[in-house]
Parts: sequence; structure tokens; C-alpha cells
Amino acid sequence: MDEFSYRDGALWCDQTPLREVAEQFGTPTYVYSASTLVDHYVRFAKAFESIDPLICFSAKALSNVHLLRLLGEQGAGIDTVSGGELHRALAAGVNTERIVLAGVGKSADELRDAVRRDIRCINVESEEEVALLARIAREEGRRPRLAIRVNPDIAPDLRTPARTTTAVRGVKFGVDIERAAALFSSAAADGSLRPEGIHVHIGSPIFDPQVYAMALERVLALVAEIEAAGHPVTTINLGGGFPAEYSAGSAPGWDDFAEAICPRLEGFVGRGGQVIFEPGRTIAANAGVLLAAVRYRKQAGERQLVVIDAGMTHIVRAAMYDSYHFMWPVTPGIEMVPPSRDQHSLDDLVTYDVVGPICESSDYLAKGRALPAMAAGDLIAIFGAGAYGMTMTSNYNSQLRPAEVLVEGDRARLIRRRETYEDLVALELLDDTPSAG
Ligand code: LLP
Repeated sequence: MDEFSYRDGALWCDQTPLREVAEQFGTPTYVYSASTLVDHYVRFAKAFESIDPLICFSAKALSNVHLLRLLGEQGAGIDTVSGGELHRALAAGVNTERIVLAGVGKSADELRDAVRRDIRCINVESEEEVALLARIAREEGRRPRLAIRVNPDIAPDLRTPARTTTAVRGVKFGVDIERAAALFSSAAADGSLRPEGIHVHIGSPIFDPQVYAMALERVLALVAEIEAAGHPVTTINLGGGFPAEYSAGSAPGWDDFAEAICPRLEGFVGRGGQVIFEPGRTIAANAGVLLAAVRYRKQAGERQLVVIDAGMTHIVRAAMYDSYHFMWPVTPGIEMVPPSRDQHSLDDLVTYDVVGPICESSDYLAKGRALPAMAAGDLIAIFGAGAYGMTMTSNYNSQLRPAEVLVEGDRARLIRRRETYEDLVALELLDDTPSAG
């Protein structure tokens, strides 16, 4: 459920008409619903409440400081993968006891920053990283808490794109599970480190709850092995990967995942263990839309095209992963309002390719999509854009990153201004470079 809905022939976010948001802030603009974001977090937490997890929202999905703060106020922690994301989490006022840091290639500076701030857990991904962390810990005179990220060698279900599969043998993430116990022991033997947990993230999105169950069985066997060697394991971090409904009914609910996961963790939690999750997409995807405007219609051979002002630099998922995003005009001009956001076959629709302005053949947002007839100036909303939308934007073609707007009831607030041409060149105009002005 989310707060984007069609009423009186137009798209609203909460009590705010999106047409007014476009008039006030221009396009392309990311628009987020505060109540949806919070509701998703709260309901996710509720589904798993029997194991009382620490839920670290994955900042890579959506990293605007205002939104991290909003989630932080609900009790969420933040999962970070870089010094930059750590900086954002801190700027959002999230307590370091609720911040975790992962990443296969953390720099020494990023590790040092995390050590100095004594964050909740550093998820390490290789033997060499453990050695570097130990050196930094000694230099800093601190004992960082760490979890070993393992690769459990689990094939996700077939709907998980190969490009976002993270836990099959040979991929770059984590430590092969058979070497993890030895690494944990050697980290425990090093007095400068506090190994306390095991971390897995099996891919994104994972549609089958049983894949989590399988990964968890392997993690629990590993935990037993480590504990048999005399080292207590006090956290299990199961990562993220929970799906979002990009089209209605396309993903199991949180209760289905909880049912597969919670019973297996009750023993661990019962003896004081802490479970951590790192959901991103499932919380954020449907809490945001990308609002764009049609620039032109054109014909290409037999195909009808609409060229909009948002392309792969503003939302890359379709071009990069062939991802499906439902899209629909803000004022469709026809009676029919998509009841399930994926209804395509009404007679009064036109089949369009929806393309962006970028000089790149893959700059398609949709191919052969049935939509109400559109014309230059019409607004279109690209749904499911709250996760991996803004965070994956780029300046390719010297495009300006979109604005971000947060809707709270009938109020729309700018939470990131649109970039300007000055922003584009600001980092290049060094002392000896002539200025554009
Ligand atoms: N934890 C770790 C260690 C991760 O690598 C990821 C995502 C997450 C948590 C959050 O996963 P989520 O709950 O959002 O599925 N750009 C791609 C997704 C890449 C995900 C990378 N890691 C997309 O747009 O689909």
C-alpha cells in the first residue's frame, strides 16, 4: 500500500496533487510520500517483531538526509557502504550504535572513520580487510566490532537478475563460507578486534522466502561451528533483498518472509543474540515516484515514441537491468484509472516506447507500453522509483540531477534542490581555470 493514488482524474500523493508539485518545482523531480516511507518501515518491523531485529535501512537505495532522518526517528538504523553514506547517516542524526558499514572495497580512511566513531558493526569481506582493520584498530587504540560477511553459495530464484545476485560461488562479495570460521577465530585471537557476528546478503530482490531459510540454515551451521571453537556469536545480519511490488501482486508479503525466517532464529534470539536486517527497496521503492514531462511525440518506423525529460541519467534501472516500472500520466484524460497499476490492454490506449533525452541507444524507460494518448507538456509519473532511483543518477551528457520533494499530507517540501549548470562545473573551476562567467 502506498499513498500515490488517482482521484478526480489526477494523481495525488497523500493530499497533494502531483500537478501542483510539478508546477512548483519543475520536472524531472523525485516525489516521496513521508507517510508511505514510515508506514513501510513500521509494518516491516511489525512483521519481524517476534525476533526484535535492528533494522538498518540500506542507504544505497535512498540516501537523502531528510529521509534517513525520518526513518531514524522511527528507530531505524542505517546500513552504509561507504564513507559517504556514513557521513549521510551521521548528518541525519542516526546514532552510531545503529549504523553498520559493509562494502567489498572499503578504503583505509573509511575503515578508520568507522573505527573512530565506534559504529555498531563493520562487515568485513576478506582476510586482507581483517588484517587492515586490525592494524587501524591498534593505531587508534580501539577494538571495533565486526561481522564476517560470508558467501553462502546460494542461487537465488530465477527472477533475481544475474546482475544483482550476490551470494553464489565466485562473486566478489563476502568470504567463502568454508573459510569464515577460521577467519572469525583469527580475528578473535587478535586482541584489537571484537568479532561478534556473521553477515549475509543473498541478492536483490529475492522473491522466494525459502531462499532466506536456506541461507539461514547455512549461517546457523557456521555459527554453531564458530561457537564450538569457543567464540560466541552475538549478531546475525541477514542483509536486505526483500522485494517491492513493482506491479501489483508480484511479491510475497513481509509476513511470508517472517514466517520463513523468524522460527529459525528464535533459539539464537532466546539466548541473547541480535538479528540485523538491511532492507532498502522493500521500504523505499513504492514510497517515491519520478515526475517527468513529455517533450515530444515522434514516429520511428512503425513505432510511436514519447520523449520525456527523464532518461537513464535520472532513473537508470530500465536501461541497466531491463527493470519494469509502471508509468502513467498524472492526468490521464480518460476514465480508466489503473486499478492494479499494470493493466495494459484497454482499447483507448496507445502503444508507446517511452524514451529519455540521453544520447545512448539504451535510454529507454519502457518499450511497447500501452498508455493513454499523451502530448508535449503532459506529466507522467514513473512509479516504484523511491529505491535505486535518485541514488543511481549521474551527470552523463551533463544532465542535471533532479530535485527531490517530500510530501507530508498536503504539504510538499523541497529536500534537495535541482542541480544547476554552476553545480556541473563547480568542481572543475579551480584557481587557474577561467570561469564561465
Ligand atoms: N545489504 C547489502 C549488503 C546490500 O548489498 C544491499 C543491496 C542491501 C543490503 C539492500 O538491498 P535491498 O533490500 O534494497 O534489496 N541497484 C539495484 C540493486 C542493487 C542492490 C545492491 N545491494 C537495483 O536497482 O535493483
